[in-house]
Amino acid sequence: MNKEQKIIISTNSAEKINAIVKEHGIKKLLLVCDSSFGFLEPHEEYEKISVPYVIFNEFTSNPLYADVCKGVELFRQEKCDAILAIGGGSAIDVAKCIKLFCKMPDSESYLTQEYKENDVLLIGVPTTSGTGSESTRYAVVYYKGQKQSVTHESIVPSYALLDRRNLNTLPVYQKKCTMLDALCQGIESWWSINANEESRVYSKKAIELIMENKENYLENTDQGNEAMMLAANYAGRAINITQTTAAHAMSYKLTSLYKVPHGRAAFMCLPRVWNYMLCHTDQSQYYAQEELEKIFNDIAAVLKCSNAKQAVVYLEELEQELFEKDSVNFNVTDAELLSKSVNVTRLKNNPVKLNEDTLHHLYIEIIQRTAK
Ligand SMILES: [Fe+2]
Repeated sequence: MNKEQKIIISTNSAEKINAIVKEHGIKKLLLVCDSSFGFLEPHEEYEKISVPYVIFNEFTSNPLYADVCKGVELFRQEKCDAILAIGGGSAIDVAKCIKLFCKMPDSESYLTQEYKENDVLLIGVPTTSGTGSESTRYAVVYYKGQKQSVTHESIVPSYALLDRRNLNTLPVYQKKCTMLDALCQGIESWWSINANEESRVYSKKAIELIMENKENYLENTDQGNEAMMLAANYAGRAINITQTTAAHAMSYKLTSLYKVPHGRAAFMCLPRVWNYMLCHTDQSQYYAQEELEKIFNDIAAVLKCSNAKQAVVYLEELEQELFEKDSVNFNVTDAELLSKSVNVTRLKNNPVKLNEDTLHHLYIEIIQRTAK
């Protein structure tokens, strides 16, 4: 697991990076960053990092495998010996793949080869508070239009540097969407059939921090930003143990079809999924009915609701409150296409079994709710 990862909370992240590269004797960095880089409050500090570096930013928000390969090429050509990722989830995911692939032979696709640990140092500096990718063993890339999950213990960055200043210039819409990604990850991890004591501690901390700090964070205060950066990291650590569940599985096609940002898409699905599960606790594919009911009520309590039913209502109201002015034009005739897109095997860690008919019904509910 990611036990060896060092998580550093600091408002002096450039200095921390310098100390890390010195400690590890790094000679040249590949700096993987996205379009936000030039707008980050500390970007001038990052540009003065004490070792030579070459920038790689030729990828999109849903990064392609071909883009990752370009990064691997650059890493080799420039004889880099470590990778620094400063960016949102996609930038960190690209950096993780470059780290994993750069020591593998390029005679065949990296995606079909056996993954092995290597000694390339990876440092992750998130600039959003959502995915927690800086602390997970997962990366997502797209190959021939299909989402591919790259999973390996060795791609958990050795260092995660949480610098709240990186959130100061994040647009408020993105702040909302990424916060909701963290909230979904915290909740889904809690009820996942893979949850354990450690993951539930992380889930609880993530949800508590979000609930206590969401207003401050959206108002861009230092305290709010620091707390949300930490919340997203806890949610990332939680899903690193459990993976996500049905709300995430259902969200991916909403993102690819309608371009709904990832966190918002997952949050559109979560209350309806929860509502369905609440009505079908007797159909748990893992927990005893009372156990699942208790899990739902425990989550509700952290959301400051008296029971799970009320928590579902609260989350739906929160969605409306946050996105009052940003509507999405869904088409109810897409419900079938959406339900067929969900990889049913990925629903296995959801506490209640969902079949294609149920998914279809849930998508209709989601679309109708969003259309109001
Ligand atoms: Fe997510």
